Amino acid sequence: MRSCVAGGNSAKELELGEEVFDQVTSFVKILVVIPLYFAVGLGGITATLAAACQGTPANCYHPDQMPPGIATLKLSFATAAESDAPELAALHTAVAEDLTNRFRPGFWSSSRSERGILANMRKPKFSRTLIARSNRHIVATLRLHTMKPWAIDTTYFTAAQQPLYLTGMAVHPNLQRKGLGRLLLKEAKAIARAWPADAIRLDAYDSAAGAGAFYAKCGFREVARVIYKKAPLIYFELILSH
Ligand SMILES: CC(C)(COP(=O)(O)OP(=O)(O)OC[C@H]1O[C@@H](n2cnc3c(N)ncnc32)[C@H](O)[C@@H]1OP(=O)(O)O)[C@@H](O)C(=O)NCCC(=O)NCCS
Repeated sequence: MRSCVAGGNSAKELELGEEVFDQVTSFVKILVVIPLYFAVGLGGITATLAAACQGTPANCYHPDQMPPGIATLKLSFATAAESDAPELAALHTAVAEDLTNRFRPGFWSSSRSERGILANMRKPKFSRTLIARSNRHIVATLRLHTMKPWAIDTTYFTAAQQPLYLTGMAVHPNLQRKGLGRLLLKEAKAIARAWPADAIRLDAYDSAAGAGAFYAKCGFREVARVIYKKAPLIYFELILSH
């Protein structure tokens, strides 16, 4: 599975044993977690969310700092904890289903397993999952990690001492195109600088369902277009200044 996709699993996650486990957990998710996710009201977030900011003042945004589209949301940013894994899996599933409905079934249709999400959280030195919360719900996420995804060929990128790879970027379908993704990337850049890292690398599907234009608008530079296991990909990088 490609690394960029909202529901993208690493190759390790696709081991046979986990596939069986995933089928069972996906079934449970479909029956329980996703309906719960929507039932608690995330699907209806449009107006003022009065809940207190969950994070510290440093990672809380207030309306006057926000893009107009999401200025009414009180957002906080944090590193995900293990207790966030079920909601993160549900968010990835919702995003994958939305992409599939809007485009067609494709590489972007896979979801992420809760087990894989948890496994990544247990390696904080090498991987951090960033989340944005509003009204206590996770509304956006991405992951920064040191290990190169299988789909990335580093020879195309500018040489870097400590590159980070960005995968699993997802904004809840109801909140896309309102500036939230850009804000989350801004957080990711700050975290990457402090890591410390000198570059962020990623791939996006080179198709209508892909988010290449989003990354380009957020300052990433396209470095190559490749085909990896039949998937057309665009590689992007952001060189970090310190
Ligand atoms: C791609 C995604 C993360 C972007 O987040 P977002 O909150 O919707 O994006 P923003 O509102 O911050 O957009 C910032 C800019 O990028 C543009 N943009 C966002 N998504 C875009 C897309 N899919 N195609 C083209 N442009 C896009 C916006 O119009 C905006 O442009 P502007 O500055 O000219 O107004 C989000 O839409 C998403 O989760 N999509 C589905 C999953 C996915 O594609 N993940 C990435 C896998 S490679």
